Amino acid sequence: MIMNRREFVTQTCMACMGGGLLSTVLTACQPTRYVTGTVESNGISVLKSEFTYLKKDKPVTRPFIVVHHENLEYPIYVYRITDDEYSALWMKCTHQGYELQASGDHLYCPGHGSEFDKRGNVNQGPAEKNLRSFPVSIHGNKIFIELT
Ligand code: FES
Repeated sequence: MIMNRREFVTQTCMACMGGGLLSTVLTACQPTRYVTGTVESNGISVLKSEFTYLKKDKPVTRPFIVVHHENLEYPIYVYRITDDEYSALWMKCTHQGYELQASGDHLYCPGHGSEFDKRGNVNQGPAEKNLRSFPVSIHGNKIFIELT
């Protein structure tokens, strides 16, 4: 079954409303934050502040953002593990190359249903290979993703 982005978001958010309402599941239903990265000589950067927003005047931290740029064939999923540790994953399915969809701490493939965790490991096939990941370094408020 092939599902487009809107169908996926609708179905996952319906699932959130249906049962247990765990905090991690609720997190998955927050709107995805898309950020245009700044291309540098050997990578792309975004500000750490892209992960925070105000909710009722209190700062809230997003678990992930999606970085895109016209020079990139696929977006990059950047997951905040801690304030100083992030993972950066190429959102290209290792099965047949569909663009992945981010949902909380995992990525889902609308092509044939593969799933990957926040570090790019295969959770569910048919994909067999983990996602391509990039080294990430922190420079003050800047997150630099080295495109190797
Ligand atoms: S292309 Fe992603 S599971 Fe087939």
